[in-house]
Amino acid sequence: MRVLVTGGMGYIGSHTCVQMIEAGMTPIIVDNLYNSKETVLARIEKLTGVRPAFFEGDIRDRAFLDNVLAQANVESVLHFAGLKAVGESVEKPLEYYDNNVHGTLVLVEAMRAAGINSLIFSSSATVYGEPETVPITEDFPTSATNPYGRSKLMVEECLADIQKALPEMSITLLRYFNPVGSHQSGEMGEDPQGIPNNLMPFISQVAVGRREYLSVFGNDYSTVDGTGVRDYIHVVDLADGHLAALNSKGKEAGLHIYNLGTGNGFSVLQMVAAFSKAAGVEVAYQLAPRRAGDIAECWADPSKARAELHWEATRTIEDMTADTWRWQSNNPNGYPDV
Ligand code: NAD
Ligand code: UD1
Repeated sequence: MRVLVTGGMGYIGSHTCVQMIEAGMTPIIVDNLYNSKETVLARIEKLTGVRPAFFEGDIRDRAFLDNVLAQANVESVLHFAGLKAVGESVEKPLEYYDNNVHGTLVLVEAMRAAGINSLIFSSSATVYGEPETVPITEDFPTSATNPYGRSKLMVEECLADIQKALPEMSITLLRYFNPVGSHQSGEMGEDPQGIPNNLMPFISQVAVGRREYLSVFGNDYSTVDGTGVRDYIHVVDLADGHLAALNSKGKEAGLHIYNLGTGNGFSVLQMVAAFSKAAGVEVAYQLAPRRAGDIAECWADPSKARAELHWEATRTIEDMTADTWRWQSNNPNGYPDV
């Protein structure tokens, strides 16, 4: 199966390409390298023996996409490309709506023109806003509290309208919970530019000595130990979820929506303890005020994906922390530039 992978050089896309190649599929990558490096290709090749075709360009560039699709001969599209930093989205809403919403619309137009009807979109648990209860099922109400989340929700709504009007299309919305971890080889992982926004890369940069300590945002939530609780999912399990979605739903016309999570919640302090154990170093932390916009706890009910995609996350918190540490300690500064 030949599949276009937008954003395939990024964190989740690159891990998904490895899993696809190992499963005998052919990913064809489109990425503008805004948040990734071309050296990712060499790592994919090292792990799989295959160097995927790579087209450098922007999904908002219709002529570029038409040209790629004319050569690529793909039957489906996995759409990871987008901007993802919540804080930055508040500062730069235009860029977020342009990249995430407009970019997706251009992509779907190009797919239609090329006769491709199968799309899998990277959505987020952020579309559940502040859930009233946990675990979260796919039929919970949706809302957004920042431009990043709103852009994801807008894309979901646009795609639902498009699928309704074009019923031959197969559109799958995958709502990721908190992706963490790395390929178990330590060759690939998350490589955030600048100061990490998310917990796991921050912890691992403290452990490797790039940062002094972690600020724990709030210890007065009504959770197991007062710190925020999330559903961390190993990126390779998440990658496999895309293969399961492609295989189970990629050819079935309709709008399909799935949570990709584990169903388990871990607190910030539990993550710090697990990481310290995996790395064999104490991760220093200090208590800090709550971060604006954070919710107390959030985890998935993953039973719909289990029943319909025949997929479930199998990797443990020990795997997530050990694999992240292997990547971070082998590559303290992330991917090389060349
Ligand atoms: P990432 O930044 O590592 O990867 C995204 C890739 O898309 C990058 O390589 C970037 O260069 C590319 N890109 C961005 N805009 C582009 C454009 N206009 N044209 C072409 N390429 C472009 O991010 P990721 O963590 O791999 O996330 C992938 C997707 O999953 C995103 O859509 C993100 O919103 C979504 N998501 C991520 C998380 C997470 O925690 N990482 C959680 C929920 C949803
Ligand atoms: C965040 C985004 C969410 C996005 C997701 C992508 C916010 C409000 N939400 O989710 O929209 O889809 O990233 O992965 O930004 N924490 C600390 N110290 C840190 C960093 C985080 O204590 O330096 C805590 C947070 O308060 C939270 C937990 O760790 O309780 C996880 O945070 P993070 O990794 O940023 O993910 P989310 O907030 O769940």
